[in-house]
Amino acid sequence: MIERITRLLEEAEHLQATNTEELEALRLKYLSKKGILSQLMADFRQVPAEQKREVGLLANKAKDALTERFNVLKAQLAVAEEDHSGLDLTRTPYPIHLGTRHPLSIVKQEIVNIFQHMGFSLADGPEVEDDWHVFGSMNFADDHPARDMQDTFFIESHPDVLLRTHTSSVQSRVMEQSQPPIRVICPGRVYRNEAISARAHCFFHQVEGLYIDRNVSFTDLKQVLLTFAREMFGADTRIRLRPSYFPFTEPSAEMDISCNICGGEGCAFCKQTGWVEILGCGMVDPNVLEANGIDSSIYSGYAFGMGIERITNLKYQVKDLRMFSENDVRFLEEFMAAN
Ligand code: PHE
Repeated sequence: MIERITRLLEEAEHLQATNTEELEALRLKYLSKKGILSQLMADFRQVPAEQKREVGLLANKAKDALTERFNVLKAQLAVAEEDHSGLDLTRTPYPIHLGTRHPLSIVKQEIVNIFQHMGFSLADGPEVEDDWHVFGSMNFADDHPARDMQDTFFIESHPDVLLRTHTSSVQSRVMEQSQPPIRVICPGRVYRNEAISARAHCFFHQVEGLYIDRNVSFTDLKQVLLTFAREMFGADTRIRLRPSYFPFTEPSAEMDISCNICGGEGCAFCKQTGWVEILGCGMVDPNVLEANGIDSSIYSGYAFGMGIERITNLKYQVKDLRMFSENDVRFLEEFMAAN
């Protein structure tokens, strides 16, 4: 009897059924009223009393094993025979909802690409800065109004720590860490203490460039900026430089481009002048070179800086600066095609 049950246990493990008919045959053979298991239970009566316990335990094990195996086979068949006839594997899937890059990121990348093609490399620096890198090393006088709380966000408990107001701080960090030739482009976020309106925000984005080598002249600056303007706004774009003032450049200029909205004819955007201002620039003041460890008797350089929001407004005519930071998906999705 023990041998018979042991064999049955082994059989249970290896039972197979590839369709419902085979499964039913198994059920009849093992689990039905006239099946092997019932027969076993019937024969159990003849087992001598002293063996009943041992044989009984084994017989129950066999019963459990057979039932379990039957259920497993049944479940497997149910999965295999599921009706897939309605499934069309050639159908296009539901479109995945793709996000878009932020318009400022798109334009920033475009600006960076243009300068990288001209040989500039990318530089980066912290947004939380110290007075030296933002103002001191950039030749700002101690009483310059930019150092005032009204214009700059200072960290209250640390009067020397502030949110950078321009990316010129990155220029300073690059100069203190390296010697010419230096050709860098520094994109980043800057902060100014302004009331938020359609035309001003307390943070915005800049891209600044710095070029230092022997014999760098204003002509080099002008040519690089002309190339940039034409790459960015089209081959017909004209530029004009107006004298200006920055503490860190001498001489300094502001650059206008022929209005790319009316083509220079005069429109509301350019206030009928045909020109729009896009950046500040100039020859790096020798004081700045010296303050940052560069010998101004050997080297000269130029720098320029522009607002990414301004360039984006010109390219896409975004009328309200606040749109850039409100994360309205309807606005952001308009730039899907530019991605
Ligand atoms: N840092 C200036 C600004 O924030 C821009 C600038 C950079 C001007 C480099 C000249 C040279 O307005």
